[in-house]
Amino acid sequence: MKFFIDTADVAAIKELDETGLVDGVTTNPSLIFKSGRDFKEVVKEICGFIDGPVSAEVASMEYEQMMKEAEVLRKLADNVCVKLPLTFDGLRACRALTNDGTKTNVTLCFSANQALLAAKAGATFVSPFIGRLDDINIDGMELIEDIRTIYDNYGFDTEILAASIRSANHVKDCALAGADVATIPPGVAKGLVKHVLTDQGLAGFERDWAATGQKII
Ligand code: G3P
Repeated sequence: MKFFIDTADVAAIKELDETGLVDGVTTNPSLIFKSGRDFKEVVKEICGFIDGPVSAEVASMEYEQMMKEAEVLRKLADNVCVKLPLTFDGLRACRALTNDGTKTNVTLCFSANQALLAAKAGATFVSPFIGRLDDINIDGMELIEDIRTIYDNYGFDTEILAASIRSANHVKDCALAGADVATIPPGVAKGLVKHVLTDQGLAGFERDWAATGQKII
């Protein structure tokens, strides 16, 4: 499963990217607002040091304007992935951009039927929002499982990009359910390495190593 980082915070992306574990980045209008930065400037900067796709979302709800915005966004860098809403206008833009060789991420997916439409529109990625479904007592992970089954039934190439991830368990469950990508907030990504027994084990090794009085270098 690929790891994308779900943020527009450049410092946080750089810190995680140093581990070599980052395969891409996703942004959205709320994350851009949170960053307090200029949208195009920050997307360009992220694209400059991330090898994989960097999702940048159109602001318009209307097809013609979406296409104009997509044209601006895709010119920012070769690895820009144009993010589009899961509406008929968004799907229409997805088909046109896909036909033109542009990577697309169809976002705000909350049902298997919506994901089926995104795949039929040729989306590179579909973004089901797990956490927001859990928030309203609908099992977000069940949606990932349903999309996996449908895409496998018909051999769709669209990648399932699990979004709205809130916990380490979400990441594990996405991997079990066969999501192609999980886009993870930096805080959750950092937490994945943590285990109390790892910390305890290291403390023991450190203590015993010091007692040997030896040095490796
Ligand atoms: O990738 C979508 C994500 O940013 C939404 O997350 O936590 O606002 O539902 P959340």
